[in-house]
Amino acid sequence: MATGSLRVNKVVFIGAGNMAEALVKGMVASGVCEADRIFVTDVRPERLAFFEKEFQVKGFANNVVAVMKADVVVLAVKPQLLGDVLEEIKGGVGNSLVISIAAGISTGWIEKGLGEGVRVVRVMPNTPALVRAGAAALCGGRWAKEADLATAETMMAAVGLAVRVPENSMDAVTALSGSGPAYVFHLMEAMIEAARHAGLDEAIARKLIYATVSGSAKLAEATGAEPAELRRRVTSKGGTTAAALEVLEEKAVYHAYLGAIAAAHRRAKELSGG
Ligand SMILES: NC(=O)c1ccc[n+]([C@@H]2O[C@H](COP(=O)([O-])OP(=O)(O)OC[C@H]3O[C@@H](n4cnc5c(N)ncnc54)[C@H](OP(=O)(O)O)[C@@H]3O)[C@@H](O)[C@H]2O)c1
Repeated sequence: MATGSLRVNKVVFIGAGNMAEALVKGMVASGVCEADRIFVTDVRPERLAFFEKEFQVKGFANNVVAVMKADVVVLAVKPQLLGDVLEEIKGGVGNSLVISIAAGISTGWIEKGLGEGVRVVRVMPNTPALVRAGAAALCGGRWAKEADLATAETMMAAVGLAVRVPENSMDAVTALSGSGPAYVFHLMEAMIEAARHAGLDEAIARKLIYATVSGSAKLAEATGAEPAELRRRVTSKGGTTAAALEVLEEKAVYHAYLGAIAAAHRRAKELSGG
């Protein structure tokens, strides 16, 4: 979680959607940036009203007006709308740092849209950011400076883990932690279904599953032990875990995961034109 103070005066989020909501919430709660220095824009008046009521930040219906008031611009619209937004704001960006969270959009593409010399940082967040337990990777564009990366890192650390990677790792990050929550939810869906088949009370089963998933991650992180070793420690010969793992082995689930993540990586590359 964030500890440092944001090295900017004013931040504007272009697009007041789910990700902007997570970031604004985290930034305000962690003290990284005061609410009166955060602005949001959106085409939906109800989203602006929500942000103003919920977080006491100022909403703008006009992107250009809002951008001119800020020194950090966060691009938080869907990737397919980004081209139009860049065209709209390019005259107003000036010296601002531009942080993009749009999946699959390269810093080069944004630099091309906004013009020579614009400092761009690209971030790949994930949805647990909504509960300040996200995992984000970030990289700088051609003109981004160390201070710009530090600013983006501080903002992302307000909603979870933030790490720096080279831009050519961003598609792999997308496949791993960007899409990753879906793989974990998929496992949780199966566990819920299995609990139902076993006649377990559903509310209790959910509690047990959620605690098991987050507890396992915490155990791996706290001990630093390899997941394979932790798995071996709960698998006694001839026991219940061994019976389950035999089925997973038989069905080649481990290899299915490798294939699934490789497919996500290929798709991320296709979408980002890499
Ligand atoms: N959600 C995720 O898991 C996730 C993970 C990693 C990265 N991201 C990236 O984060 C970005 C935002 O995702 P999100 O899930 O927060 O999207 P979202 O909920 O759709 O939020 C975007 C908001 O921007 C509004 N908008 C559309 N055009 C606009 C414009 N010209 N100016 C200002 N606002 C405009 C949208 O309104 P309308 O709905 O009416 O269009 C919507 O309210 C995307 O680029 C996505 O790739 C998301």
